[in-house]
Amino acid sequence: MCGIVAYIGNKPAQSLLLEGLKRLEYRGYDSAGMAILSDRLHITRAVGRVAMLEEAVARNPLAGTVGMAHTRWATHGDVSERNAHPHRDDKHGIALIHNGTIENYAPLKTYLQEKGHRFASDTDTEVLAMLVSELYDGDLETAVQSALREIRGAYAIAVICEKEANTLVVARKGSPLIVGIGDKEFVVASDGSAIVAHTTQVFELDDYQVCKLTRDDFRTSTLDNVPVTPKIRQLEMELEQIELGSFETFMMKEIFEQPEALRTTMRGRIDEHAGQVVLGGVGSYARDLVRARQIVLTGQGTAYHAAMIGQYLIEDLAKIPAKVEYASEFRYRNPIIVEGTVLIAVSQSGETADTLAALREAKERGALTMGAVNVVGSSIARETDAGVYLRVGPEIGVASTKAFTGQVMVLSLISLFLARRRFMSVDACEVMLEELSRVPDMIEKALAENDHIKRVTEKYCRNENWLFLGRGYNYPVALEGALKLKEISYIHAEGMPAAEIKHGPIALINDGMPAVFIANKGPQYDKVMLNIEQVKARGGRVIAVATEGDQNIKRHADDVFYIPDISDALSPLLTVVPLQLLACHAAKLRGHDVDKPRNLAKSVTVE
Ligand code: F6R
Repeated sequence: MCGIVAYIGNKPAQSLLLEGLKRLEYRGYDSAGMAILSDRLHITRAVGRVAMLEEAVARNPLAGTVGMAHTRWATHGDVSERNAHPHRDDKHGIALIHNGTIENYAPLKTYLQEKGHRFASDTDTEVLAMLVSELYDGDLETAVQSALREIRGAYAIAVICEKEANTLVVARKGSPLIVGIGDKEFVVASDGSAIVAHTTQVFELDDYQVCKLTRDDFRTSTLDNVPVTPKIRQLEMELEQIELGSFETFMMKEIFEQPEALRTTMRGRIDEHAGQVVLGGVGSYARDLVRARQIVLTGQGTAYHAAMIGQYLIEDLAKIPAKVEYASEFRYRNPIIVEGTVLIAVSQSGETADTLAALREAKERGALTMGAVNVVGSSIARETDAGVYLRVGPEIGVASTKAFTGQVMVLSLISLFLARRRFMSVDACEVMLEELSRVPDMIEKALAENDHIKRVTEKYCRNENWLFLGRGYNYPVALEGALKLKEISYIHAEGMPAAEIKHGPIALINDGMPAVFIANKGPQYDKVMLNIEQVKARGGRVIAVATEGDQNIKRHADDVFYIPDISDALSPLLTVVPLQLLACHAAKLRGHDVDKPRNLAKSVTVE
């Protein structure tokens, strides 16, 4: 979703901001813009890629060492130059960029129009810019505080003003914003990727906080101007993690990073001698967790699929009643939170608006809350009582891959943490932990099939309708396989439990329709074979994900992707890998930009 980068210092702002915007491109956007402050305010905006903005500023370079830039993902008003940010007023030369949505923009707009303000766009953001202008009385920080007291909604904003050439004001509520502290300079951005090239000393703003930055200093306060001291920390990010290296796309890079990423997820968390899992982030809540009477897992999209696997793992291994629910449903459904409920919020970004709201709802109703989150210091990570970070490194590809396996790995660790402290014997736990520790090597073997997977994808990638089918632990993987394919290749794909096809979807099967079955060796193998036959009998083409050494599958399936032998409970960590590769190849073969799928944003911070 929208990206913000702002700078105040002594370097030319234009190139620094463009470089920052390119780092934020992965978040998803449809137009971009930049404001630079020199003797006066200069604004350039363009529809389309950051490259278009780059061309526009190259034609008309903007000099100055204070400025801000934005990538917009349209919410209010169409995709056009006049709706792109920054928005400005003419009276004081105030410019503002915004990530989020302002709910009460309509009455505020009427009020401001009555006061004589003329609007040039259809956006909610311009209303906020005009409100700051209306309340401006010689001090930008005060005007921003006053304006934000009047609005409802979510925001991360940056504001500059022609009359205060040595000031940048930023603020947040509900949308992420990080301030990077350099030497007589500050870089502010929606995430660390636009900051790490300049400094690794950062702090996050909390909700309802405003920060005034000058070249030499900063001051953080509440909307009521009460000073607050931010917690400065080290940004845990390396530049090479957010660069493509030898890969063509971030998605492919991140698929191949999975073995190493999962080794990092597990590092220090498996005590082989005691046959148990050690989770530092659970801290003093371990007892409450072990005694939980119900565990609710929540998330959206890929994170929801990982949460589904978590539900199966927790009930199967730890024997605690567990359920999974879309955060967007949970938050509005008036859910029953019995005493002893633990809610686990699963999220890569830690900023997904619905997941954050579901977490707050559960907390309000007395649940203990836990996060399975990737981004350190993100809203969900900060608001949960306890948590286990995924530690898979920055995920830049819009289609989530290594975060999915990271989430499943963390949920496997949490399940074994609980299981061992409840009913599981040391021996049984040791066996599973030993197998878990071999997962990265096994993923490496699954990745070695890449060329074969590409050749198979070439055969089927022109088909417009696909089915993905699995049972038990691999039903969520079928959903994830379908989501991966549809979101980047724009092929219609449906995932469902393999047994479900007979209840309607089998009517879709016609000659040559690809059906991907997850048919690993597990308790439901024979049942999956039956379902494969039902599809074959109707002319469907079967692609199976199967266990190494399974020769029988070749008699049923048209094409096979093999994965190493693994227990059913941990199999999703492997079975998903060929499906990620298949989706990535299909999108590429169909000529799509794998890392920038249409209409999608990486971090969904609006409802
Ligand atoms: C799909 C994908 C999305 C996210 C979802 C939740 O590839 O990336 O479905 O999984 O938007 O995002 P997070 O995990 O950041 O909460």
